[in-house]
Amino acid sequence: MRLRRKPWIEEAIKEYEGLLYLDEPTTLKGKWRHIFPKENQPLHVEFGTGKGQFISRMADLHRDVNYIGMEVQEGVIYYAAKKTAAIEPPLDNVHLILGDVNHIEDIFAPGEVDMIYLNFSDPWPKKRHMKRRLTYRDFLRKYALILSEGGEIHFKTDNKELFDFSIEEFHAMGWILSDVTYNLHEQPVEGEVETEYEEKFSRKGNLVCRLVATRPIGDSMIHLKR
Ligand SMILES: C[S@@+](CC[C@H](N)C(=O)[O-])C[C@H]1O[C@@H](n2cnc3c(N)ncnc32)[C@H](O)[C@@H]1O
Repeated sequence: MRLRRKPWIEEAIKEYEGLLYLDEPTTLKGKWRHIFPKENQPLHVEFGTGKGQFISRMADLHRDVNYIGMEVQEGVIYYAAKKTAAIEPPLDNVHLILGDVNHIEDIFAPGEVDMIYLNFSDPWPKKRHMKRRLTYRDFLRKYALILSEGGEIHFKTDNKELFDFSIEEFHAMGWILSDVTYNLHEQPVEGEVETEYEEKFSRKGNLVCRLVATRPIGDSMIHLKR
């Protein structure tokens, strides 16, 4: 699927060909590891990557992991590409996709992803928009299918309502929760960096909530496939 792009970006974004996929790359489904020079490294994906501070800094910090950042807004992912390309020495362990999380089953094969990051996902506070939250059960079902066995979601947000809603959704879908905190910065996680939103809103005094959710296994996967 081709997503609409703003005209000014058409030209500017060409500079980042190779790093950035502008059309949802369904032809790479099941083949993602082969686009990285070190193809045997684990694959970690961030959905809703924004302007790319998290994904680019994580890729710089953990060169033994391959990363993909997916973002639906072209005017936003452009900055993620710019930021990622500016890192020295250059990164060969990260790619970006202009794409919609709703389509991940067409982009990633079952079990292809080892870890998913959801950072400061849009809260969609109105109840009638609940199904758009990236931790709504229909999304959890898709994540479970593309994650490898034992695969995890690392989720953080400063929106307590979204966090509590997400805990209920994870439980309802049989995920195992660990490292649940309502104040991440009290004891930051070693090896995980801050996102743009995290920096901005924690400076304003908002507490950051975080959890790790492990994919359901065995029998509990059966109802996920329905
Ligand atoms: C609140 S921002 C957070 C950005 C970044 N993760 C951070 O923490 O700074 C949420 C981002 O998710 C993106 N997003 C929302 N729904 C998405 C979807 N269905 N597919 C891909 N990206 C999405 C938005 O465009 C936005 O850039």
